[in-house]
Amino acid sequence: MKSLLWIQALLVPTLAITSQTPLLQDEAPFTVHQSSVSPAHSIRIKRQNASLCNTPVDQYTGWLDVGAKHLFFWYFKAENPAYHAASGSASESEPLALWLTGGPGGSSMLGMLQELGPCLINEYGNGTVYNEYGWNKHTALLFVDQPAGVGFSYLDQGEPVPGDSFTTAVDVHLFLQMFVSQVFPEHGEGPLVITGESYAGHYLPALGAQIVTQNALHPKQPQVPLKSLAIGNGYVSPLDTSYGYWETLCTTNPGVKEPIFNSTRCDIMAANLPRCMDVARTCYEHPDPAICQAASAVCWSGVIEFYDGESYAGGRNRFDITAPCDIDSFCYANTALIQSYLNLPSTFRALSVPAFITNFTVESTAVENAFMATNDLEISLMPQLTFLLASQIDVLIYQGNLDLACNTAGAKRWTSSMAWKGQAEYTAKELRPWRSGGEVVGMAKEVKIEMVEGDGKRTRFALVTVDGSGHMVPQDQPAVALDMLDRWLAGKAFD
Ligand SMILES: *[C@@H]1O[C@H](CO)[C@@H](O)[C@H](O)[C@H]1NC(C)=O
Ligand SMILES: *[C@@H]1O[C@H](CO)[C@@H](O)[C@H](O)[C@H]1NC(C)=O
Ligand SMILES: *[C@@H]1O[C@H](CO)[C@@H](O)[C@H](O)[C@H]1NC(C)=O
Ligand SMILES: *[C@@H]1O[C@H](CO)[C@@H](O)[C@H](O)[C@H]1NC(C)=O
Repeated sequence: MKSLLWIQALLVPTLAITSQTPLLQDEAPFTVHQSSVSPAHSIRIKRQNASLCNTPVDQYTGWLDVGAKHLFFWYFKAENPAYHAASGSASESEPLALWLTGGPGGSSMLGMLQELGPCLINEYGNGTVYNEYGWNKHTALLFVDQPAGVGFSYLDQGEPVPGDSFTTAVDVHLFLQMFVSQVFPEHGEGPLVITGESYAGHYLPALGAQIVTQNALHPKQPQVPLKSLAIGNGYVSPLDTSYGYWETLCTTNPGVKEPIFNSTRCDIMAANLPRCMDVARTCYEHPDPAICQAASAVCWSGVIEFYDGESYAGGRNRFDITAPCDIDSFCYANTALIQSYLNLPSTFRALSVPAFITNFTVESTAVENAFMATNDLEISLMPQLTFLLASQIDVLIYQGNLDLACNTAGAKRWTSSMAWKGQAEYTAKELRPWRSGGEVVGMAKEVKIEMVEGDGKRTRFALVTVDGSGHMVPQDQPAVALDMLDRWLAGKAFD
C-alpha cells in the first residue's frame, strides 16, 4: 500500500503511539472458543449475514484475543468448495485462503471491500454489492486486520504496537492454529494458502516461516496446514523495487505506448541508481537502522522522489502509472467509501465493535510509525522465501505490470537473484505469454523442483504478470485474477 513508500518518503516525526483499554461490552452475541494450547488465547466469533456483506455464503466476524492483543477477522465460506481428501481420515478437508493487506498499517478490509472479497463497497459507501469474482469460489476466505492496532484490531492499554513483520507473524500463527483446529476444524488438513499484496511481501514470508518452524517445533500441537504463498505486487526486496523504478518509468516495458518520464529525468535517475544500489546493498549486508535509513534517504532523493514526490490527489498514482490519483495517500476514491461504510453505526453494531473504538481507519499511523522505527521496511525477505521453498512450500509471485510501488521490473530481478536449488532452472527459462479467457493477459514462468532428494514431491515457484493492471490486480483485472488464483490452487499450469 501507499505507506510502504512513505517509508522512503516523508519520514516525518513519529506520532504518539496510542493504545486502548478494552471495555468489553456486550459479549453476549459472541461464541467464545478457549485455546487448547494456551490459556491466554481465545477466539470470539459471531455469525453475520448478507445485510452486512452481500454474499450468499455463511460469514462470521470476531476477534482473536491473544494476551493483550486483539486481532479482528472476517471469514467467508466457499461458494463451491474444492474438497480435498484428508490424509488418514474419512473426512474431507476444505481449502482455506488467508488475505493480508500491506501497509505496514493497512487494513485487510481494503483488500476485501475494494478488490477480492465476496462483496465489494457500493458506489455510495453505504452498503455492499456481490462480487462475482470474489476469491471464495473454491476456497474459504479469511481476512485478518494485523498487526494489532490496524483496522478493527486493537491493543490493551500499555501494550506496545508491533513494529516488525516477525512479531505480528507470531500472533497470526497463533490465530491460525486455533482457527483451523478448534473453530473451523474442517480446515485442519488444509490446504492453506496465505496471500496478500504490497507490504504483505514482508508479512507473508515472515508468517510462512513462523508456521513452518512452529509446526516442526511442536509436532503434538495443532499444525497449520500451510501449502503455498501467493504474493501480489509484494514488497519483498526493497533494493530491487528501487532499481525497477527506472525501467518502469523510462521504458515501455510496463505496457505503455510512451515512457512516463522524459529523458531528462531518466538520465538523472540512471546516474543516481548505482549509488542507491550500493548503499541499499550495504543495508542488506549490515542491517543497522542508521545505515538502512541513510540508504533509503539516498534512494529516495536520487530515484524514488521524482515520481512519488508528485503522488497526491490530482497528481501521479504510484499504484498505476497510467491512472490518475483521486485522493491523497491511497489514490483510489473507493478507499474513502470503505471507511464511510465501516464507520456507520449499523456496521459497528453488527460487528459488536468495543465501545472505546470510535473510528475505523484503513491505515494505522501508529503501526506505520512503529515499523519505521525498526529496520523492517528496508530488509529483504528473500531468506524467508528460500527457507520456505526448502521446506516444500509453493510460492507464487504475481504482478500487475502498471504498478510502480512494487514494480514488475524489480520482481523479475529479485526472483532471479534468489539463491536456491531452483535458481538456475528459473533463470534459464523465458517468461512466456499466458492466456485467460482465450486472450494473452500477461507473462508467466514456473519451475517445479524436487527439494528433498528422492521424495518425489515437487515444489512450485512461479512468476505471473498481468497486463493492464496496477498494484491491485483483483481490482484492476478481476476475472484474470480469479483465474490465476484458481489455477494456482488447482495446480494447473499458466502457459
Ligand atoms: C445508499 O445511498 C443511496 C443514495 O443516497 C440511496 O439511494 C440508498 O437507498 C442508500 N442505501 C442504503 C442501504 O442506505
Ligand atoms: C521533463 O519532465 C519534467 C517533469 O515533468 C519537466 O519539468 C521537464 O520540463 C521535462 N523536460 C523536457 C526537456 O521536456
Ligand atoms: C442480519 O444481521 C443484522 C445485523 O447485522 C440483523 O439486524 C438482521 O436481523 C439479520 N437478518 C437476518 C435475516 O438474520
Ligand atoms: C476517522 O478517521 C478518518 C481517517 O483518519 C478521518 O478522516 C475522520 O475525520 C475520522 N472521523 C472521526 C469521527 O473522528
